[in-house]
Amino acid sequence: MQAVEGATDLAALEEARVRFLGRKAHLTVLLRSIPELPAQERPAVGRFGNVVKKELEGAIAARRDVLEREELVHALERDRIDVTLPGRALPLGHLHLITSTQREIEDIFMGMGYEVAEGPEVETDYYNFEALNHPPDHPARSLHDTFFVNDLVLLRTHTSPVQVRTMEKQQPPVYVIVPGKAYRRDNDATHTPMFHQVEGLVVDHGITLADLKGTLETFAKAMFGEERSVRLRPHFFPFTEPSVEVDVSCMICEGAGCRLCKRSGWLEILGAGMVDPNVFDFVDYDPEEYTGFAFGMGIERIAMLKHGVTDLRLFYENDLRFITQF
Ligand code: FA5
Ligand code: MG
Repeated sequence: MQAVEGATDLAALEEARVRFLGRKAHLTVLLRSIPELPAQERPAVGRFGNVVKKELEGAIAARRDVLEREELVHALERDRIDVTLPGRALPLGHLHLITSTQREIEDIFMGMGYEVAEGPEVETDYYNFEALNHPPDHPARSLHDTFFVNDLVLLRTHTSPVQVRTMEKQQPPVYVIVPGKAYRRDNDATHTPMFHQVEGLVVDHGITLADLKGTLETFAKAMFGEERSVRLRPHFFPFTEPSVEVDVSCMICEGAGCRLCKRSGWLEILGAGMVDPNVFDFVDYDPEEYTGFAFGMGIERIAMLKHGVTDLRLFYENDLRFITQF
């Protein structure tokens, strides 16, 4: 009875049962040997043996009940699942600011009916320079510090070569934008060796500089807010005539003058102009019939202005403390 009461788990209880009621237990052996006893002793031994056996069996069953209930309680506590606990949040990535800015620009122009075109990053001198009206030895070539693969093959320094590739493939009307990577031997707070541009090209009947200005104003307001205005400053590009650089009124100081706009009230966002008739000659468009405008903006520049980022290199250092802010 002590062994049964003292069993602290089901295994110990089973051990006690085998020891006292199993086939080799003293009691079992005794009960089995009753027929060999003198006849007058058999009833008393038999009765007593059965009483002991019954008492042991009862005690074991009772103890088993207790132990089984205890085990169940433990199991329930151990395996308890609280379905009301909030789940563990999985870390989710998101688009890089340059990618989302590029898509924002694409959306604005697609909303105005433009198509999106692409071209190769490894480009020939012909498309990057010559067909864009840079004759050999023209000084404008040295304005771009070019990565050359060999004398005739280079990493494109802008997305403008896709203007030529697009016009070679189709006749006007042309309304395309060209997002993509460009490369120059530049490296400082506002220039990286690899950067992104969005080129725009429109060729149709009767396109004027006013169409260019209206288009860019619509873009600037959509990108930076309704309060923004744009101004055109005379500039030079070999492939546009006239050429302009385009400024947007500063979104920090509203034009009053601050550090971001260097006290001028204006921020440069892109280069643009009317397509030079010499470029039309390269693609067999008739300059008497068609006119067009083109523009090229730096995506990093747009993202910096919109989000107040002061060093372009941050975009490519992959520091999550920076990247996850956007
Ligand atoms: C051009 O690249 C002309 N192809 C733009 C153009 C297109 C003019 C169509 C007329 C018609 P520019 O070299 O100024 O122009 O570069 C345009 C923009 O690209 C700059 O305003 C700047 O935002 C961005 N950019 C140029 N170099 C870098 C660089 N190294 N890193 C980051 N952005 C750059
Ligand atoms: Mg420029």
